[in-house]
Amino acid sequence: MKLCMIGTGYVGLVSGVCFSDLGNDVICVDKDINKITNLKKGIIPIYEPGLEELVLKNYKNKRLNFSTNLKESVKKSDIIFICVGTPTKKKNNSADLSQVYSAGYEISKSINKYKIIINKSTVPVSTGDEIEKIISKKVKKKYFSVVSNPEFLREGEAIRDFIYPDRVVVGSNDSKSKKIIKNLYSPLISKGANYLSTSRRAAELIKYASNAFLATKITFINEIANLCEKTGIDVEDISIGIGLDKRIGGRFLRAGPAYGGSCFPKDTKAIVSTADKFKTNLSLIKSVIKSNNIRSNLLLKRLSLIMKNKIKNKKISFLGVTFKANTDDMRDSSSLKLIPYLSRKGANIRYYDPTGLKKEFKNLKNVKFSNSIHESIKDSDLIIIHTEWNDFKSINFKKYSKNKKLIIYDMRNIFSPNKIKNLGLKYYGIGR
Ligand code: UGA
Repeated sequence: MKLCMIGTGYVGLVSGVCFSDLGNDVICVDKDINKITNLKKGIIPIYEPGLEELVLKNYKNKRLNFSTNLKESVKKSDIIFICVGTPTKKKNNSADLSQVYSAGYEISKSINKYKIIINKSTVPVSTGDEIEKIISKKVKKKYFSVVSNPEFLREGEAIRDFIYPDRVVVGSNDSKSKKIIKNLYSPLISKGANYLSTSRRAAELIKYASNAFLATKITFINEIANLCEKTGIDVEDISIGIGLDKRIGGRFLRAGPAYGGSCFPKDTKAIVSTADKFKTNLSLIKSVIKSNNIRSNLLLKRLSLIMKNKIKNKKISFLGVTFKANTDDMRDSSSLKLIPYLSRKGANIRYYDPTGLKKEFKNLKNVKFSNSIHESIKDSDLIIIHTEWNDFKSINFKKYSKNKKLIIYDMRNIFSPNKIKNLGLKYYGIGR
């Protein structure tokens, strides 16, 4: 099939490349000329394991192309995916849909035969209805269908999540588009993916409800971790103990710093704002947002306790600054609160991240990027393990055990407390 992805951000690029790898002809469109020129040269704008290889392979065999010409790309395609950003509006926490609607309007000018417009951007319930209204101002209804097909890709795992999804959700209100989209996904369905066909509004809500539920699960275990710290219990035992109950499930029950990234913080706020619009109080999700927002303060309090309130001039090594491992994404990372606080308190911070130096810390006093784990942690008083890269899991602390005062604060619980303590070092984790 001939596909067009509007927006070559995370969702558009990964989905477009994966669809081309499944044998479709795909054009990825973006307004950003630089991005498109770079993609044609094989320069990928984001860090995502496996993406570069797939781009190069499919661009070479001409199933994948890149363009800034939306009009021509839409004309050539049977199915058009809207994959643009839906950031949070500052004034009321709702999702800013201007890019989605503007894409709908642009598409409406180029519909020359029946086309399916699929919205993949994360949007509030009823956005599909609005897109349909916008297009129907220019095009007769029989020439197009508007479908919702949310994505559930995790950064860092996106290719695998696309090829082996837990489920594919397609929300459409007409049978013609339903048949065509099911056919598009047939290579994944035949590999065992669950395929769920719903109304368009239901698909829109499934996406928000999924992210809100996962954020709730994480916040739940983070609060239980707070209790574990006060009661001498290891939260890892609790995660396993409750996760083995199939009704609960063990995934997304890892206590850690506050959840971050481009999705959970944004989508929890947006679902609350949508519900407010429909006069429904999502009190549970509101308290999840609140709990997550104050989590960094709790971590900072614990840090002060660990350091016996002596942070000034202490050498602190920060390992991993992105919102999680296997991504270069800094959005809503808790390091954005932790590092500036420690810098204000007079600490000397050296941070290391496998994805390199971060502009966010450029102007902070006494905060320097190190080129290696060793350079970052040597001579430290405190090492904070902030993300779960495999590179950190294999650090040989024995090498550093001469410094008996060295403290490890493992915010992802990747080390065994006893092993570290046996080296004579002090160990703190989350909820243990
Ligand atoms: C999330 C969802 O997992 C995807 O299904 C969804 O498609 C995506 O948002 C989106 O809406 O586009 P992502 O933001 O890439 O994916 O990251 P996650 O792996 O879900 O992690 C989110 C945050 O939760 C991170 O800060 C992570 O460290 C934290 N987390 C996750 C925990 O603290 N504990 C866990 O057990 C799992």
